[in-house]
Amino acid sequence: MTNRPPILEVVNLQKTYDSGQVALKDVSLSVHEGEILALLGPNGAGKTTLISIICGIVRATGGHVTVGGHDIVDDYRAARRMIGLVPQEMVLEPFARVTSSLTLSCGLFGMRPDRAYLDDLMRRLSLYDKRQSTTMTLSGGMKRRVLIAKALAHKPRVLFLDEPTAGVDVELRKDMWAIVRALRDDGVTVILTTHYIEEAEAIADRIGIISGGSLVLVEDKVALMDRLGQRQMRLKLETPVSAVPASLAHHALRVAEDGDLVYTYDGLKGPAVGDLLFELANAGLKLKDVETKRRSLEDIFVDLIHNGDHAR
Ligand SMILES: Nc1ncnc2c1ncn2[C@@H]1O[C@H](COP(=O)(O)OP(=O)(O)O)[C@@H](O)[C@H]1O
Ligand SMILES: [Mg+2]
Repeated sequence: MTNRPPILEVVNLQKTYDSGQVALKDVSLSVHEGEILALLGPNGAGKTTLISIICGIVRATGGHVTVGGHDIVDDYRAARRMIGLVPQEMVLEPFARVTSSLTLSCGLFGMRPDRAYLDDLMRRLSLYDKRQSTTMTLSGGMKRRVLIAKALAHKPRVLFLDEPTAGVDVELRKDMWAIVRALRDDGVTVILTTHYIEEAEAIADRIGIISGGSLVLVEDKVALMDRLGQRQMRLKLETPVSAVPASLAHHALRVAEDGDLVYTYDGLKGPAVGDLLFELANAGLKLKDVETKRRSLEDIFVDLIHNGDHAR
């Protein structure tokens, strides 16, 4: 990573809606150019509020944000021009043709449309053949592609995607992931929100976890998986048990629904398998098979939310 200033800087951001609802408590975040950051959190966590503030749709009640060094309030136009937003809700003009809805987007930013760029954009998003269709005749997946193309029409440096794959089928989801990676490879910084853990795990370089209006953790995905990703070993037994035998109580064992034993250990330190297997035999338990698996981000997420373990 370079020492360049972050492309997005969020400092002590707070939002309390007029209703009194506190949506963001004190969120600070720096994002570097060319990364994919996934903001992961359950419904109501504050993801859309955070994005809406950065994009100038909602006004913060505290803190500040800069995009490419431009303050989003004092220097709104310059900041907004650097941003593309694919909103959570579909907002398309039903009777507009694909090409004209892209040129319209350029117009909103006072930009003359760059035809060659827009053609290339439509090709990359597999929209080119449909460029003369009106948006209302397109399938749901194509409409989402139009939304992305619209968000990119004015050549923003930072693209926000708010729940890009909520309610889409598996195939389209994979397509979206490929599109996001290709954008990143072109140097666009991508910030997306999701409540799908496997989505964050699949495409993000860094993951931020939002819960109850606070950013509880932001970390490089691989480091997060390594640091928190404990491993589990499933000891499949000839004869299922209903409780952990007393002689094995000092091991991190629990009984699975089907009567197997599950042993959790630190992926970095490795298991104390020798001792464990010896003691297992002494307790009269016969092993049928052993399976190991890494804890998923889902397990980590559940721990963070339920145990309030900020694990910084
Ligand atoms: N316009 C609004 N007025 C009042 N409360 C709102 C408004 N928008 C969102 N909220 C509340 O703020 C909290 C965060 O919502 P939101 O940012 O939409 O979360 P997420 O996108 O993570 O689901 C929720 O409790 C939600 O009900
Ligand atoms: Mg939302």
